[in-house]
Amino acid sequence: MEDTQQPDVRIRGIVKRFGAFEAVAGIDLDVARGQFVTLLGPSGCGKTTTLRIIGGFETPDAGEVLVAGVPVNEAAKRHTRMVFQSYALFPHMTVRANVAFGLRMDKVPKGEIAPRVEAMLGKLGLADQAGKYPRQLSGGQQQRVALARALVTQPRVLLLDEPLGALDLKMRKKMQGELKALQRNVGITFIYVTHDQEEAMNLSDIIVVMEKGKIAQVGTPEEVYRRPASSYVADFVGETNFMAGGVAVRPENILIGAALPAGASRGKGVVRAKSFLGASTRIEIDAGGQTLFATVPGAVALEIGDAVEYGWRNEDSLNLTMTEDRK
Ligand SMILES: Nc1ncnc2c1ncn2[C@@H]1O[C@H](COP(=O)(O)OP(=O)(O)OP(=O)(O)O)[C@@H](O)[C@H]1O
Ligand SMILES: [Mg+2]
Repeated sequence: MEDTQQPDVRIRGIVKRFGAFEAVAGIDLDVARGQFVTLLGPSGCGKTTTLRIIGGFETPDAGEVLVAGVPVNEAAKRHTRMVFQSYALFPHMTVRANVAFGLRMDKVPKGEIAPRVEAMLGKLGLADQAGKYPRQLSGGQQQRVALARALVTQPRVLLLDEPLGALDLKMRKKMQGELKALQRNVGITFIYVTHDQEEAMNLSDIIVVMEKGKIAQVGTPEEVYRRPASSYVADFVGETNFMAGGVAVRPENILIGAALPAGASRGKGVVRAKSFLGASTRIEIDAGGQTLFATVPGAVALEIGDAVEYGWRNEDSLNLTMTEDRK
């Protein structure tokens, strides 16, 4: 019997070394059933290595991973499928054959394969592409085939390593929307890897911010953005002004001139640059040797070189642990 109370993925104390280098330096994480969880962090922080350990492609030097309560070994491998940035489709097989492949490997009865493949192709808007070969498809279509091929086997957990990384920005945004809708629709747990914070915010139920092989913070996109645990997280997720006094304030919380309420923390500076962005204006302020960024709604009647009073409500300052780079 499957235990639906336990997390789909339970990670305890995993460590992975390559020679003397610790790529994963002690990670604990629970991923609940049906969640969209994203590992977010800069290049080299250990995202892919962690994902490969969950998928059973890499053996940790310490710790353990349970998928659906089963240790990651051949048994647990059945519960996970991985989608790569490079699609990794079989070039000599049609779209239909690519999607059917996993079912044939799983020895699904022949009569079941065709209807499941057709249903999945339909779900991903690929019905009219079924007879084509991968080279005859766009990047977005190829990525959809890769997703269909993984999902058709009904894994418990789908692991996705920067699956949209090879697409142009417009296609990426479009696929983000589709991916999120798809995940809700199929109800499968997704563990997604990206270094793109906007993508992580857009897609995820839970974001796991990683720093040098460790977890810096776990939370909803809103929690991670509004209450970053450290200066590292505040810097990586969104933009942050780090004030000389040890205070951190988001650009949208920097207020200018008449917008400053009584009791706000204040300072004086000079406008160094401004750019009108349509819905908002971004202002760069020279604040006595420090540069601050403010994002204010609409247009602003300030010119470069103008003196400006800036400030913020005390409740809008972030309460952060300063990590090494900020000490
Ligand atoms: N097989 C390997 N042998 C040696 N070092 C490795 C190996 N795989 C990964 N590493 C190192 O481990 C660290 C983490 O790698 P990993 O691929 O997990 O990073 P990542 O967070 O996925 O980065 P990116 O965003 O660039 O894909 C890197 O410094 C990398 O060079
Ligand atoms: Mg990677």
